[in-house]
Amino acid sequence: MASRWTFLLLFTLVAASNNVTTAPGSSESLVHKYPRTWIENLAVRPNGRILPATATSAVLMELNPANGEQRVVHNFTGAGGNANAIMTIADVQGQDLFLINTMECDIFKLACINGTGITWLVDLRGRGPAKIKKLVTGPNAQSILNGAAALNHQTVLMVDQNLGGIWSVDITRPDTANLFTNPAMLDPTNSGNGVNGIRVRGNTLYFNNPSAGTFARIRIDPRNGCLIGNATIITSGLTVPDDFEIDRHERFAYFSNDNELLKIDLSDGNYDAIVKGLPGPTTARWTRSWHGFEYGYSRDEVADESLYVATAGGTDQWLSGNPTILAAIYRVTV
Ligand SMILES: *[C@@H]1O[C@H](CO)[C@@H](O)[C@H](O)[C@H]1NC(C)=O
Ligand SMILES: *[C@@H]1O[C@H](CO)[C@@H](O)[C@H](O)[C@H]1NC(C)=O
Ligand SMILES: *[C@@H]1O[C@H](CO)[C@@H](O)[C@H](O)[C@H]1NC(C)=O
Ligand SMILES: *[C@@H]1O[C@H](CO)[C@@H](O)[C@H](O)[C@H]1NC(C)=O
Repeated sequence: MASRWTFLLLFTLVAASNNVTTAPGSSESLVHKYPRTWIENLAVRPNGRILPATATSAVLMELNPANGEQRVVHNFTGAGGNANAIMTIADVQGQDLFLINTMECDIFKLACINGTGITWLVDLRGRGPAKIKKLVTGPNAQSILNGAAALNHQTVLMVDQNLGGIWSVDITRPDTANLFTNPAMLDPTNSGNGVNGIRVRGNTLYFNNPSAGTFARIRIDPRNGCLIGNATIITSGLTVPDDFEIDRHERFAYFSNDNELLKIDLSDGNYDAIVKGLPGPTTARWTRSWHGFEYGYSRDEVADESLYVATAGGTDQWLSGNPTILAAIYRVTV
């Protein structure tokens, strides 16, 4: 019998470690710890505040990394159904606009229900409360949404890990399209764990595939996201490759994998662990948007030299129903 639940990641048990060490040349500091929270992803506002996407709550919070203060941005609990998780947050190119996906999930199963995704635009421009716009539901009955990345100021690409493909969403009107599926994005075990995180640089879409243990690139049309090439595997044999970041010059990827943050050389796929002992890292994001200079930062300030790395605690602890190691956000200089 088909289960309603589709797993978010492979059941490679990631032991909850809490003894963070860094390679020479890198350093790490704790920004904030969260009780009984699974941070799935995060985005950074032009003003430097952090918006974590939490698989354990549909309340979108904002964290001031300077003093640890938090505030509620918007409560999506129950919105448009039984939303109880925020599985996605993507910065729409430094405009203080964010695309998020809410879903119905059960983190103690590490699973979400197919098709319960709702895509929202969170507009933080100007004063007053966030302006919220519902963009898409689904997009289809089987969809499991996860990573997303802006293609330009208007179009955001979204992963469908169950479909093994990419949707595009127009943030200015209710318009979504299934751009493509690709064999390299499919889950070889057919359990809904295909492509999970994406980044876009020019005409290259970088993506992971946790159940295949791969990190790959594929050529797309930068105007509309349509596929114009075949996938090339950059690195294979990764344990649980979760979300990642790419530097401005496309030299390295910074990758959450198992209990480590890997630095992968994009020219040959070789890698080193620059941080070890992280309690279930899920994502890495630059601490400043490259688009920040549009908001008055100097180019030096937007240099890609430090990342926020978010964690989920250990998958073994969540599955046993007793997450004692807290999710956290770390700042890592690379
Ligand atoms: C942390 O890891 C280092 C290096 O592996 C080890 O020497 C140290 O004993 C560990 N500390 C704890 C508290 O486990
Ligand atoms: C969010 O909304 C839910 C449902 O109305 C409510 O139970 C919960 O307390 C709210 N959380 C916050 C932080 O406002
Ligand atoms: C949800 O997707 C998974 C993975 O593809 C599938 O096994 C399951 O049957 C789907 N569930 C429903 C209710 O369609
Ligand atoms: C993609 O792969 C197919 C089959 O191997 C090949 O025929 C085609 O030329 C390739 N396309 C590109 C753009 O490399």
